[in-house]
Amino acid sequence: MSERSEAVSHHSTVDTLVVSGGTPLVGEVAVRGAKNLVPKAMVAAVLGDYPSVLSNVPQIRDVEIVRNLLELHGVTVADGEAADTLVLDPSRVEQAALPDIEVHAGASRIPILLCGPLLHRLGHAFIPDLGGCKIGDRPINFHLDALRQFGAVVEKRPEGLHISAPRGLTGTKIELAYPSVGTTEQVLLTAVRAQGVTELRNAAVEPEIIDLICVLQKMGAIISIDTDRIIRITGVERLGGYIHEAVPDRMEAGSWACAALATGGEVFVRNARQVDLMTFLNVYRRVGGAFQVTADGIRFWHPGGKLDALALETDVHPGFMTDWQQPLVVALTQATGLSIVHETVYENRLGYADALVRLGAHIQVYSECLGATPCRFGRRNFSHSAVISGPSSLHGADLRVPDLRGGFSYLIAALAAQGRSTVHGVGIIARGYEAFLTKLEDLGAQVEPAC
Ligand code: EPU
Repeated sequence: MSERSEAVSHHSTVDTLVVSGGTPLVGEVAVRGAKNLVPKAMVAAVLGDYPSVLSNVPQIRDVEIVRNLLELHGVTVADGEAADTLVLDPSRVEQAALPDIEVHAGASRIPILLCGPLLHRLGHAFIPDLGGCKIGDRPINFHLDALRQFGAVVEKRPEGLHISAPRGLTGTKIELAYPSVGTTEQVLLTAVRAQGVTELRNAAVEPEIIDLICVLQKMGAIISIDTDRIIRITGVERLGGYIHEAVPDRMEAGSWACAALATGGEVFVRNARQVDLMTFLNVYRRVGGAFQVTADGIRFWHPGGKLDALALETDVHPGFMTDWQQPLVVALTQATGLSIVHETVYENRLGYADALVRLGAHIQVYSECLGATPCRFGRRNFSHSAVISGPSSLHGADLRVPDLRGGFSYLIAALAAQGRSTVHGVGIIARGYEAFLTKLEDLGAQVEPAC
């Protein structure tokens, strides 16, 4: 096991934490490359004829899963000289043995992105059942429709997807029904080596997608981003390798910022970048949080006095991202008045609110769209709007982590609460938060693995 894997497994094997709350978090944490970019840049390396070098790679479970999966497909993945660098050599890509890939079924959503690269390299691909957080139905219909438009033949079997491209892949025109992050990445990773031009309308344009486009451009791809969410890709026959430093994780940065606010503390998030957090910073300011942008990161703190309630909708970029929603709601439990949060990206991303109520928060969840814009979930009976009444005095409780962001939010809530909480299932958090336990301890949090 590499040092990197050992570090991840240390954090993912801790299952239960005893949290003694009531102490403000104070200090510094550093964020590294984004969880929602790094595994995809690793997949992009499969498209190249030469090795790629990716730096600023965090030690998180999602990176380990993709590393294992790439290795099963013949990609050599080695730790670089610097501790946070991976060298990916795709010169011997091969079909992995089915039982080996099936071991990864349910572990992550990234495998679906291997379709295009494996089709280009081998002419066929097998993708096991997908995992990821249970925050909604999370269908893959857009992915499969797009692959079919490129000329792929997709066969759904009980064990997973068998995909082939008997006549190769050809550029096409695709319009997404919703600007899906994963499908935009799917199209990019397939179109760059398809024959001819691909036009993608209603594309997602998250900073992590722009960073993936930078990776692909370094490899020799021709991609232009036009106004109105249109991306055009001119396919090329061959791609080389890349040398790239991953964009920092804006979700993790936002999580620590909310932790500072909810606990009345002050956290300097090293490497956080203003440009990726612009929408978040506006909301942080409106709630009453303070921040200072420096060349090395952003300092976030609770300036004292009361926090202000607000109304907010999650949205695709450049809107307020859905992954910031849960940590922010914890901070909103401490704001004075009624806050309204309308989740418009996932239909089931408020399930964690029940546990916050058990900690003493006043949160009511509704199936109506409580926002300016009616969303796709309004008439479908999904509990996707929340009204939070604050400030509430939180107290300790027994909690079980539901998903990645919800789980981290439980930790923040338990730290903001008076008394002891027991949080079960914290291993999930290691999927996306590097060394979260060490970072919490560095900030003065009283957290201990339960015996
Ligand atoms: N959707 C479909 N059909 C599809 C694909 C998506 O209906 O084929 C729907 C989804 O059900 C959802 C919406 O489109 O309602 C948006 O999904 P999207 O495809 O954008 O999400 P994703 O690519 O599966 C990534 C991140 C998520 C993040 C979202 C939105 C990764 C691995 N995951 O998911 O991150 O919330 O984009 O920004 O990049 C997290 O980090 O905790 C996390 C869940």
